[in-house]
Amino acid sequence: MVQQLTDKFGRTIEYLRLSVTDRCDLRCNYCMPEGFKDFEVPEDWLSFAEIERVIRVFGELGTRRIRITGGEPLVRKNLAELATRLAALPGIEDLSLSSNATRLQKQAVPLKQAGISRINVSLDTLRADRFKEITGGKIDKVLKGLMAAKEAGFQPVKINMVVMRGVNDDEVEEMVQFCIEHDFTLRFIETMPMGDTGRNASLQYIPLSEIHDRLAKKYTLIQAKMNGGGPARYVRVEGTELRIGFITPMSQHFCDTCNRVRLSVDGTLYLCLGQEASYPLRELLRAGITDEELKQHIQKAIDLKPEKHEFNNKPEKLVRFMSMTGG
Ligand code: 5AD
Ligand code: SF4
Repeated sequence: MVQQLTDKFGRTIEYLRLSVTDRCDLRCNYCMPEGFKDFEVPEDWLSFAEIERVIRVFGELGTRRIRITGGEPLVRKNLAELATRLAALPGIEDLSLSSNATRLQKQAVPLKQAGISRINVSLDTLRADRFKEITGGKIDKVLKGLMAAKEAGFQPVKINMVVMRGVNDDEVEEMVQFCIEHDFTLRFIETMPMGDTGRNASLQYIPLSEIHDRLAKKYTLIQAKMNGGGPARYVRVEGTELRIGFITPMSQHFCDTCNRVRLSVDGTLYLCLGQEASYPLRELLRAGITDEELKQHIQKAIDLKPEKHEFNNKPEKLVRFMSMTGG
């Protein structure tokens, strides 16, 4: 019998974000501090077998959807092999990927074949110079990766754009056009103050209502539904197939419908993106606990899930970087 994970606030947890590495080949300035090197060491990474076991047990506890994230997940070797194993697990109905797309050109087809159906790509700008400024990397690889994802048949391909005042907020309309042209779904995200890099976040933060109202002057926006179960609120641009999602962790938090937990590469469960609450599983796994015991530990972890994040009233509180849990 499949059980259900429920937290103290009555929320059903059926979605897990799996970080397969905390490393990344970019350095988006809102995510990791420049020159950051304090990464997990390989001995502490969960092996594919360990990951598979944890996800299988989550599946037995009612988790239906897994999103593979990082850091940059494609930095982890043989990711397609892991994806194949996860896609085959009973109960896991939806396997998706969040990537910066730098390495997607080569891997899009194998990852699709492995059973990943949907993909989100982080892209905050279409301009090479800005891309370099924001991420430290080269945009051409990302654009090629994005096109390769579309070719490989991922449906939908979503672009995540963190909108930052004075950085890329003037590019919103261009990004809309780009996504109409290429049949991508577009999501705007409010900048969250994460870790030390959170220092600039309050300066760059824009409430997305501003962007919505600006776009509404130029386009007719119709409320739309989109499968996925995430916190984005969608509109469709009339006369096109484009759907635009607004993700507003700051201006309108969506904690009361939160359905997810995060597993980091070192085997720690994080119960909230904006809180330190966590539960270490790696040592338990390596000490040889049974599946039944693992289930009990997972439920204990879920009991620690906070009611909501505190980005607004305590922005200095979170010391973890986004790269540890991948958004
Ligand atoms: N605020 C908002 N979004 C962020 N991301 C990373 N750091 C932050 C932040 N501080 C986004 C990435 C990616 C997703 C996984 O999270 O751009 O799209
Ligand atoms: Fe890498 Fe994503 Fe963080 Fe950018 S936001 S540094 S691409 S993990």
